[in-house]
Amino acid sequence: MNDLNLTIAAIKNLKQVGSIVPSSQFLVRKIIKRIDFSKQTNILELGAGSGVITKGILSQMSDNSVLYSYENNTRLIALLEGIDDARLIVKGESVSNLSALQDDYFDVVISSLPLANLKNEFKNSIYKNVRSKLKKSGTFIQYQYLLSDYKKIERYFRNCHLGFCLFNIPPAFIYKIEMISDGHTMKDLSS
Ligand SMILES: C[S@@+](CC[C@H](N)C(=O)[O-])C[C@H]1O[C@@H](n2cnc3c(N)ncnc32)[C@H](O)[C@@H]1O
Repeated sequence: MNDLNLTIAAIKNLKQVGSIVPSSQFLVRKIIKRIDFSKQTNILELGAGSGVITKGILSQMSDNSVLYSYENNTRLIALLEGIDDARLIVKGESVSNLSALQDDYFDVVISSLPLANLKNEFKNSIYKNVRSKLKKSGTFIQYQYLLSDYKKIERYFRNCHLGFCLFNIPPAFIYKIEMISDGHTMKDLSS
């Protein structure tokens, strides 16, 4: 039923939702295996959809960890709000409001945002926020069906590793960025 909700949301606004089916369990596993759940972990999820990755994260997270999940589609927000877990904070709003969050708070940011459908200026502001909300040793994970934003992300962040998941509709590339605590400054992406 959750799958159907994402499909209906996508039929109504494919550009916003970016996919007609939720991520496969193969992709979910590949994404969350990149996270160290052995300690308290503050996680920020961008574009939670019907909650497949959300639930995968919650299934691994320790009791004292916290997950903030952003989603701006009304139908999908209702699904996320139905997940009964005190560690989950559903933010039913656009990621354009990320600046309201505390700086240097998150260990991991996981984004499913449909980058290919977003304007460059908007993406730049998201990357800037990801950078400021992550702890200095944090991790940023993003997946994308084409490599269209890989070069830009690689230029913006350092230490970008590329993974791939064949068993997803469509198959997906996974970008994993490890932040480095050496005061490295952001590159200007406006050009
Ligand atoms: C490709 S879907 C991924 C859904 C889910 N995380 C998954 O992997 O199956 C992208 C999601 O990002 C959401 N989204 C797009 N733009 C957004 C924005 N500006 N703020 C918050 N969520 C957004 C869409 O509504 C959609 O649910």
